[in-house]
Amino acid sequence: MDKLDVKTLDTLLSTFGPSGNEEAVREFIESEIKDHVDELHVDTLGNLIAHKKGNGKRIMLAGHMDQIGLMVTYIDKEGFLRFTNIGGISPAVSLSQRVIFKNGTIGVIGSEHLENIKDLKLDKMFIDIGANSREEAERIISIGDVCGYFNAPVIDDQKVVSPSLDDRIGCYIMMETIKNIKESPNDLYFVFTVQEELGLRGAKTSAYQVEPDIGIAYDVTMTGDTPKARTMALKMGEGFAIKAKDNSMISHPGLKNYLVQEAKKQKVNYQIEVLEFGGTDSGAIHLSKEGVPSSVLSIPTRYIHSTCEMVSNKDVLGAINYSTKLLMTDFNF
Ligand code: CO
Ligand code: ZN
Repeated sequence: MDKLDVKTLDTLLSTFGPSGNEEAVREFIESEIKDHVDELHVDTLGNLIAHKKGNGKRIMLAGHMDQIGLMVTYIDKEGFLRFTNIGGISPAVSLSQRVIFKNGTIGVIGSEHLENIKDLKLDKMFIDIGANSREEAERIISIGDVCGYFNAPVIDDQKVVSPSLDDRIGCYIMMETIKNIKESPNDLYFVFTVQEELGLRGAKTSAYQVEPDIGIAYDVTMTGDTPKARTMALKMGEGFAIKAKDNSMISHPGLKNYLVQEAKKQKVNYQIEVLEFGGTDSGAIHLSKEGVPSSVLSIPTRYIHSTCEMVSNKDVLGAINYSTKLLMTDFNF
């Protein structure tokens, strides 16, 4: 594959799916992959489990469908909405951004007047949907409603810029890999998980059910390549990353070495990732039952958890082509 499927990716990125509200994303993914898998199953929490049967090792691939969001906690008498965070929402990144609710209502995030911008906290902020009173607001929004950042995706020849790349880009890589693999010696379970941003919840229950021999998550990771960035060895555009560690896991050394050897064999660009905070679905998978050898394939991403997360097309295409070949190998390590 040498070009992104712009239409599919654009739809995937634009679909509403804050944690706990992944139905629309799940339906879209289902419609895209249903002709390319042997079985599709939605579990109790809402994870989509796509099975491509094979006789070899049982491998669980995981990418999370959910995105970070905001939940309405209170509507004041002027019609402004107070909110709490669903996952890692930063006040600075949220100010003056647009949000969208499930029913299509668009809001803008504003703040109380502050003498010092350092005092900007989520509890000083509100969502403005243009209503003039509580009654007017309540006609379209209720306490407990959830919204996500709203910003049209940009997909050009170099890069993708969009909210929700965390982790729709992981879902996209899995979808394309599913379409590419005609037959695999391995028993492949592609799991599109829910509620990762709230603590890897969907991965936990789906791994318990799938009982994999090996687990690999697809997710975004940070970079150290912007001006005076926090020190980190990853650069956008230099290849997907094979994880050594994050705060939720240490990659299984045998599996990690196997992933590296396969990358070398395939002569593809790859980097090694050490992420000093955050976690991914593999954090839950590797602790399932008596333990599962696990690792992560990451896409170096700038401005994670913002309205304009950015990835390089090269890294995404590299990950798709690599995964396609990788999953046909015997995973002897
Ligand atoms: Co995230
Ligand atoms: Zn993620």
